[in-house]
Amino acid sequence: MKIAVLKESAPGETRVAATPETIKKLSALGAALWIEEGAGEGAAIPDAAYAEAGAEVVPAAKAVESADLVMGVQAPDVAALSSVKPGAWVAATFDPFVQRERVDAYAKAGLEALALEFMPRITRAQSMDVLSSQSNLAGYKAVLTAADTYGRAFPMMMTAAGTVSAAKVFVMGVGVAGLQAIATAKRLGAQVSATDVRPETAEQIKSLGGKPIFAEGLEAAGEGGYAAELTDEQKAAQAEMVSAHIAKQDIVITTALIPGRAAPRLVSDAQIASMKPGSVIYDLAVAQGGNVEGSVADELVVIHGVSVMGYSNTPAHLPADASALFSRNLFNFLNAFWDEEAGKPVLDEEIGDAIRLTRGGEVVSARLKG
Ligand SMILES: NC(=O)c1ccc[n+]([C@@H]2O[C@H](COP(=O)([O-])OP(=O)(O)OC[C@H]3O[C@@H](n4cnc5c(N)ncnc54)[C@H](O)[C@@H]3O)[C@@H](O)[C@H]2O)c1
Repeated sequence: MKIAVLKESAPGETRVAATPETIKKLSALGAALWIEEGAGEGAAIPDAAYAEAGAEVVPAAKAVESADLVMGVQAPDVAALSSVKPGAWVAATFDPFVQRERVDAYAKAGLEALALEFMPRITRAQSMDVLSSQSNLAGYKAVLTAADTYGRAFPMMMTAAGTVSAAKVFVMGVGVAGLQAIATAKRLGAQVSATDVRPETAEQIKSLGGKPIFAEGLEAAGEGGYAAELTDEQKAAQAEMVSAHIAKQDIVITTALIPGRAAPRLVSDAQIASMKPGSVIYDLAVAQGGNVEGSVADELVVIHGVSVMGYSNTPAHLPADASALFSRNLFNFLNAFWDEEAGKPVLDEEIGDAIRLTRGGEVVSARLKG
């Protein structure tokens, strides 16, 4: 089986879908690895390291020629894949709801698109879950970036010149990114509070040393451990709770997402205005429409004296670790299904049907067909 890895082409994308470690492991399974020159540059992996691990390091056209599988962080443009084997697999993130045209183009080209972000949240797929591995790093980096922008310290300090008080950090949305944000802010010495719409997160917040702040009776658990959209009444109850709490916060990290929908709006302009000047808000959902009114991807906007920021691709700001974890997720996925006789992975229904977007010229994903 020929596996190709291209240099990522999306603006600002620094990650790469294979590292020398996973090249070695995939080669040990019997695959031939072909990697585009310079693919690891953004993640500080030189071509020589890939070659040493056993990959052929070549120009893009040669890498994809007759490939059975192309691995990517973000799915490549279909135009880059014209010489792959008919029906070849492409395993990458596709952002399928937003980039629907790309999915249709993959179908038209007869490719089999495997969307890694559709990996089911089941125990045996945990090690293959790129959303978790990348969100975890994003939660960490969001706190560091906010701390760097904040003009004060995080921990309480008693000094001869007087006391510096601890920063108050409020984390909104306690999934994988939110939990890591709480843990990171605690380690930096902040006083941390957090909220979500899934009640089970209250215990998780406490176990990390944070204080759960929940609107009375508010609960909106959806399918598969994800949140559901709030009703208008629930939104009003949440807004009231946020208004009462946010004015006393120095740093707010928002992470709330609802699968297949725009990110829920959690912080309004009026709520920003109630915060102290110099406070910082990091909107991790900025690329999905944003949790914060007025947030702009990859820009620091000062609104009522509050710095509002958020990278559209936060994991790309930790390229080495993000690539290492992403590529291990990919390896774990291929390895779990590797069929020695076939010399390639053979997917089962539960996972295969969940992640497969296109096959035989058609869009086949149940989630996309609605
Ligand atoms: N393989 C596995 O078993 C596995 C792996 C990772 C995550 N999970 C679970 O999947 C679930 C989703 O995690 P995620 O990090 O992908 O979440 P996510 O990125 O979809 O959303 C982030 C958080 O925002 C919350 N949220 C949504 N709307 C909100 C609102 N209006 N106000 C406040 N918070 C809101 C969500 O409940 C979630 O906790 C969790 O239950 C997590 O434990 C399971």
